[in-house]
Amino acid sequence: MKKRVWILLCLLFMMLASCTQGSNDSRNPSENTEGLIVVGFSQVGAESDWRHANSKSMRDTFSEENGYRLVFRDAQQKLENQIAAIREFIELKVDYIVFAPVSEEGWDDVLREAKAAGIPVIIVDRMIQTSDDNLFTCWVGSDFRKEGDVAVAWMENAFEARSSINIVHLQGSMGSSAQIGRTEGLQAGVDRNSGWEIIYRDSGDFTQVKGKEVMEYVLKQYTRIDVLYCENDNMAYGAMEAMDMAARTYGVNGEVTILSFDATRTGLEATLQGKINYNVECNPLHGPRVEAVILQLEKGEVPDKLAYVEEMSFDAATITQEDIDARAY
Ligand code: AHR
Repeated sequence: MKKRVWILLCLLFMMLASCTQGSNDSRNPSENTEGLIVVGFSQVGAESDWRHANSKSMRDTFSEENGYRLVFRDAQQKLENQIAAIREFIELKVDYIVFAPVSEEGWDDVLREAKAAGIPVIIVDRMIQTSDDNLFTCWVGSDFRKEGDVAVAWMENAFEARSSINIVHLQGSMGSSAQIGRTEGLQAGVDRNSGWEIIYRDSGDFTQVKGKEVMEYVLKQYTRIDVLYCENDNMAYGAMEAMDMAARTYGVNGEVTILSFDATRTGLEATLQGKINYNVECNPLHGPRVEAVILQLEKGEVPDKLAYVEEMSFDAATITQEDIDARAY
């Protein structure tokens, strides 16, 4: 009897251990790398549909069939986890370090360590602030400020005839480039349009749950909301849930105009249904882009230091089913 309990406890322990590893790779990353290029990738987390699509793109690209061993580490949206992952990659002597930064600040020390180890560092998706650009090899990602400017240009056109608008601003994870750029875009719009007022601003950390939480609070405080400027689709879904529960209307035929970012498939479906008025794309398919950089480096070529991804935007008034069918994420 005692033996059985002991075996059960061991099994339980093993299950718990594998759970705490989250979606990280559990294999020994240094085993059997003969002929494979070893890539250590530190991902932000799993906070949004965008992020899932981004992780899939990286995993699909850096597969063994394609000649890679991917060491994937999920930072669970914590800077310290990312720094620990990069130190682990250095210890493992991976061929390339790739990371999508949780936030812009705090990278110089660990990047100096990677440089001293002679490992090329490729930054993807968001950007960092550094005192020395030579601490990373190159960057591939989105122009988040431009995304914000595109959204604001649409607002300026849509609200041209209105002398005042009340804006609720749901921000992404504070300190990330995606939040900083989209927030700067809106702020610039508010600064040049005297009738625009941000009546409430808070972070929903790019998640549906927090988007809903913040919006529930906002709806209790404010009766007139003209615009919800929401820094990603998942927070918009959460905010829409809150508005449904509070019987407040939104979208093309509603009281609250919604602007969102990412333009994932579900986000575009909501746009086609007229629930989201305007959706600005943020493209997550970075796997092949990072691979192109690695292949250049393998050949001794010098990749562009900064490579911005081309992105589109979608208006509920003009989006079509074909736009959604063309979406790979
Ligand atoms: O950095 C890209 C942003 O991060 C996406 O807009 C958001 O959904 C994600 O979590």
